[in-house]
Amino acid sequence: MENKSRVLVVGGTGFVGRRIVTASLAEGHPTYVLMRPEIGLDVDKLQMLLSYKARGARLLEASLQDHRSLVAAVRQVDVVVSAMSGVHFRSHNLMLQLKLVEAIKEAGNVKRFIPSEFGMDPSRMGDALEPGRVSFDEKMEIRRAIEEVDIPHTYVSANCFAAYFCANLSQMKTLLPPKEKVRVYGDGNVKVIIVDEDDVGTYTIKSVDDPRTLNKTIYLRPRDNCLTQNELIAKWEELTGKCLEKIPISGDEFLASMKDMDYANQVGVGHFYHIFYEGCLTNFDIGDNGAEATLLYPEVQYTRMDEYLKRYL
Ligand SMILES: NC(=O)c1ccc[n+]([C@@H]2O[C@H](COP(=O)([O-])OP(=O)(O)OC[C@H]3O[C@@H](n4cnc5c(N)ncnc54)[C@H](OP(=O)(O)O)[C@@H]3O)[C@@H](O)[C@H]2O)c1
Repeated sequence: MENKSRVLVVGGTGFVGRRIVTASLAEGHPTYVLMRPEIGLDVDKLQMLLSYKARGARLLEASLQDHRSLVAAVRQVDVVVSAMSGVHFRSHNLMLQLKLVEAIKEAGNVKRFIPSEFGMDPSRMGDALEPGRVSFDEKMEIRRAIEEVDIPHTYVSANCFAAYFCANLSQMKTLLPPKEKVRVYGDGNVKVIIVDEDDVGTYTIKSVDDPRTLNKTIYLRPRDNCLTQNELIAKWEELTGKCLEKIPISGDEFLASMKDMDYANQVGVGHFYHIFYEGCLTNFDIGDNGAEATLLYPEVQYTRMDEYLKRYL
């Protein structure tokens, strides 16, 4: 019988964390989820945690603020996957992961740590714009802490989550499809990569026991989901049978729009600029220090974006 690692998910009730928990259970890993006392009266979180327990997960009580409890939790597993928040318009606690790194170091038993990344590869974003670069700088700081103490790791570059980039046709400040008009970044022909977040969970869990991903970055590049914004818009138009008015926006204009925005949206503008104008998701070859997830795990039937879009009809 195949020996599956015991997986602890930290941030397990979050947007991507809950998908990682689901994937871990589905792949047959003994699955553990951190239950933080700080959730207090958050009844939804507690109910979600209890639902994991009902599906076979074990809840481990520990706090990122309490080193001993964290070390004790980490000692019970082989793999730690962190899905802690790092997006500015929600909570922002990515640097708390340094506490997790300290606990993993002291526990000394963890065979693989996957820190919370799941976006652009921060090691390729050294020239990113302010203020958005903070996301990449923080993720790099966590990487340095991991590598300094030789914790076996895998970094997951998940590109764009579909919930944030697909149905809204990559418009900012909304998650819903535009009804009449759509803003098109430049000529709309830069290739980007959009991934169903359930697939992010699946590929992440597939990688945890895989020697091919040890101390490497895996990139999620589902071939059919490497799309230009124009191609994405065309898919929606085909599904709805309705043609949208296209409003092109130049790179300079887009960057200038930042000045009247709050901090969270300024961060977003920077990220969108790198993705849709500079093509930062697709303008490089993966190379020897990485691997492409759909090639590693061809058995995964990933979700295409025309399928994903149907739920918004
Ligand atoms: N590629 C993309 O398009 C994209 C989009 C969004 C996010 N991301 C990335 O995905 C990762 C996860 O983001 P997310 O949106 O899934 O996060 P999220 O839902 O906002 O939060 C994830 C979890 O972080 C934990 N957390 C929040 N505040 C905490 C605190 N003070 N102390 C300890 N834990 C705390 C909570 O864990 P509990 O379950 O313990 O309460 C929460 O459920 C981030 O690295 C982010 O940058 C990528």
